[in-house]
Amino acid sequence: MKLFLDSANIEEIREVAGWGVLDGVTTNPSLCSKESAGFEENIRAICALTPGPVSAECVSLQADAIVPEARALAKLAPNIAVKIPVGVEGLKAAKRLAAEGIAVNMTLIFSAGQALLAAKAGARFVSPFIGRLDDVSEDGMALIDEIVQIFDNYDIKTEVIVASVRHPRHVIEAARLGADIATVPFGVMEKLVRHPLTDIGVERFLADWRKVKK
Ligand code: E4P
Repeated sequence: MKLFLDSANIEEIREVAGWGVLDGVTTNPSLCSKESAGFEENIRAICALTPGPVSAECVSLQADAIVPEARALAKLAPNIAVKIPVGVEGLKAAKRLAAEGIAVNMTLIFSAGQALLAAKAGARFVSPFIGRLDDVSEDGMALIDEIVQIFDNYDIKTEVIVASVRHPRHVIEAARLGADIATVPFGVMEKLVRHPLTDIGVERFLADWRKVKK
């Protein structure tokens, strides 16, 4: 499974790229609003650091406006994927952009039907938001299970990005279900690498090593 960082923060992205585990980055308007650098400058810098796709989100709502906005975003760097919220206008735009070879990440997916339509319109990625479903007492991971099964049934090439990840178990369950990608906030990425028994084990080994005769 590929791991993307769900962040627009250049230091976080540089840090995780340094761990050798970064396959891509997803941003959204809320994440971008936390950064001091200008939007385009920041996205270009992220693209330069990232070995895979970087999602940058369109804010237009009508297909005729989404398409030129997405084309402009795609020109920022060769590894841009344009993020477009699912909906009738989003589907129309995705169809046109996919025909031009622009990678579309259809976002704010909350049902398998939305994912299926996004794939049929030519989206390269779909982003089901599992944490936000869990937040309203629905089962986010059940949605991933459904989408993965449907895409497998028909050999659909659209990749499933498990988004709105809240904790390490979300990442592990996503991998167990065969999702292509999980996009993970920096804090969860840090939790994934740590285990208290690893820290205790290292401490014990070092304490015993100090007793070894040289
Ligand atoms: C994914 O592409 C989104 O940027 C993100 O995962 C949304 O997460 P949130 O529900 O924590 O805002």
